[in-house]
Amino acid sequence: MIIVSSVATVIGIAISLVIDWFPEQASTASDDIDLLYDVLLIASVPIFVLVMSVALYSVFAFRAKPGDLSDGAPIHGNTRLEVVWVTIPFIMVSALAVYGWVVLDDIEAKKPNTLVVNVTAQQFAWSFDYPAEKVKTNRLVLPKDRPVEFRIKSKDVLHDFWVPEFRLKSDAVPGITTKIRLTPSRLGNYDVVCAELCGIGHSTMRQDVQVVTRAGYDAWLAKERGSAAGEPPAGGDSAAAGKQLFTDTGCNACHTLADADSNAAIGPELNEVAADAAKYGKQEGQTPEEYVKAAIENPDSFLVPKFDKGIMPTTYKNDLSPEEIDTLVKYLLDVGGGNGQ
Ligand code: CUA
Repeated sequence: MIIVSSVATVIGIAISLVIDWFPEQASTASDDIDLLYDVLLIASVPIFVLVMSVALYSVFAFRAKPGDLSDGAPIHGNTRLEVVWVTIPFIMVSALAVYGWVVLDDIEAKKPNTLVVNVTAQQFAWSFDYPAEKVKTNRLVLPKDRPVEFRIKSKDVLHDFWVPEFRLKSDAVPGITTKIRLTPSRLGNYDVVCAELCGIGHSTMRQDVQVVTRAGYDAWLAKERGSAAGEPPAGGDSAAAGKQLFTDTGCNACHTLADADSNAAIGPELNEVAADAAKYGKQEGQTPEEYVKAAIENPDSFLVPKFDKGIMPTTYKNDLSPEEIDTLVKYLLDVGGGNGQ
């Protein structure tokens, strides 16, 4: 039995190490975390094999003979065995806990020149605010090799901020700010994933994170600042501004709108929103503009047939300025089939 168990342990460890469990490593924490997982796997396999070997051995060795209905021999325990099977796991678990703590402490250490990014989760989109840089965006762009501190908040329910390639993740909890620190170490595009079931659109709550060079980051910052400065409260290219708002605000996470390349079915499709606004607006005694505005500011006041109450966030009235809402209303009515009406 010892020989079979040893062979099974070796094979089990080999298989667990050969399997490629993790995606690419794109942060400096990835190496340490992957190694920690490997150590956990290596420690788990012998325990699993030991428990299964004893269980299987007992099933066969102590099997009742046909017709034997007598009780088993009374057993009063074995102090030495019990001390051993309590002490060894205690030492193993404590050692792994200390090891895990050391790794976490190292990853979470404050580093100089840290970039702070405020992450806001909302059903069903992420938004990012770079307070020192005065940039707000829904596309996370990070410079390679610069430490980042994410300060994560939620406006509604539990979400979970996760970039698998960075390895770290953290819940976004209403009412508190959670933090994670990491340093991107590999150029490329990855997914920001929501890892907590947060409602009907949970599976669509995915956005891009782009790790770029220092120069690329500076160029992106300049461009974002430029477009923010050029964004019209009045005048300017309002169709472009409307489209930008539509994606930046996360409308595209739930609504289909051909002009904005969005393709989601959590809320009503907006390709024909002008016709809908005329029809339902008339029914509600509103102009199409008033109808669309009410649908953004107070979404539960009127529900398009087949859509449920409480799905659309009610926070846009506070999050968007009146000018932004007007820009969005105009944009939607223009691209939603109402052009020239
Ligand atoms: Cu947000 Cu799942």
